[in-house]
Amino acid sequence: VEFDPYSYELDRDPYPVYRFLRDEQPVYRNERLDFWALSRFDDVLAASLDWRSYSSAQGTVLELMGRMQDSAMIIFMDPPRQTRLRNLVSKAFTPRRMAGLAKEIREIARGYLDPLLPLGGCNIVRDFTSRLPMDVISAMLGIPSEDREQVQRWSNETLHREPGNPDPPAVALRAMADMFEYMGRQIAERRARPRDDMITLLTQAELPGDDGGVRRLSELEIHSFITLLAAAGNETVTKLLATAIYWLWKHPEQRARLLAQPQLIPNAVEETLRFDPPSQYQGRVTTREIEIHGRTLPVGARVLLLTGSSGRDERRFPDPDRYDVGREIDLHLGFGYGQHICLGASLARLEMATALDEFLQRFPDYEIDEDGIERVHSSNVRGFAGVPLRYAARQGETR
Ligand code: HEM
Repeated sequence: VEFDPYSYELDRDPYPVYRFLRDEQPVYRNERLDFWALSRFDDVLAASLDWRSYSSAQGTVLELMGRMQDSAMIIFMDPPRQTRLRNLVSKAFTPRRMAGLAKEIREIARGYLDPLLPLGGCNIVRDFTSRLPMDVISAMLGIPSEDREQVQRWSNETLHREPGNPDPPAVALRAMADMFEYMGRQIAERRARPRDDMITLLTQAELPGDDGGVRRLSELEIHSFITLLAAAGNETVTKLLATAIYWLWKHPEQRARLLAQPQLIPNAVEETLRFDPPSQYQGRVTTREIEIHGRTLPVGARVLLLTGSSGRDERRFPDPDRYDVGREIDLHLGFGYGQHICLGASLARLEMATALDEFLQRFPDYEIDEDGIERVHSSNVRGFAGVPLRYAARQGETR
């Protein structure tokens, strides 16, 4: 059995391969693509906590790992630099700020869902799940509403990969360049005319300098933050929301539970993150020799921490292949763990719970045309690019 993160076949269902890895090769080695993989929950957790041995600084996506150096994005940094910058931007994610966004998120969700009701059918990714997260993150950043669709398109194109080829295709490279230029213009505008938004906050923020004084963020640092938030805040929620809608269709009895007890929806979000997370692995490069399960990872080894596999580990979760919205989950690794644990987790949870609630109120009963489903093809992001939905058309009243 070869584990190839670029395989389209694997995109359909990676979980049997993960099970094989956990049982037979918990320290898996792929010579052809030159990487290692840890698949058991405990091993993924321990490595996520040990940032000294498992570095993010050379990239965390297989095609970049080892090629990257000195990124200005916190996700590709190690402490202490990462911690300083992370603390600064985490101010944008306080509970108070999240509560302030709650009403807007609900309105955004309703604004997309209501017009779909009379249609009797839609593509729920195109018409809803891909729209909402970018509007939310854009509102938070201060990106004008008329530009939001374009920013989202760049973000999606950036992640696209052709089968069997790990390198970003021309369309991805062009999207990266266009997004870079666009954000540069936004930063310049905020410097000239500050507003009450996150881009302005970044242009004004001060952080401890190496000389003991304080300094402003560099152009590149601000730019990298915005690009990171726009990318991380869009793709993942888009995918997780569509994945939840898919699994709730496959398991109508679980959907019925949520309809009867909407207070279970936040738990359904956690269960979906355990069961089928959008971010399938976190890549790291070893900084020392590591002994694990009788094997030795050399210095400089490219290691994939298989988040997707960790949630299905029967050593941690009873009956792990059962989707159960009432399952008690004390910890899952769907948001990563340790130093780099998802900075946007509170926002993601709020968006997910609100969006699912609004969706289920309007679409308690729907069918998915399974043959019409499209998947994204990326080395670590798993999920749908398109999901055709059918339902009885109506002008609905909602709760
Ligand atoms: C369901 C949705 C989401 C999932 C599954 C998710 C998943 C993750 C994971 C697994 C990591 C850890 C990466 C690593 O260890 O290398 C991460 C980091 C991060 N996420 Fe999320 N994320 C989600 C939503 C968001 C949102 C909405 C935002 C921002 C608005 C966001 C911003 C970030 C940032 C900035 C980091 C880097 C943190 C650091 O390196 O210190 N994420 N996310």
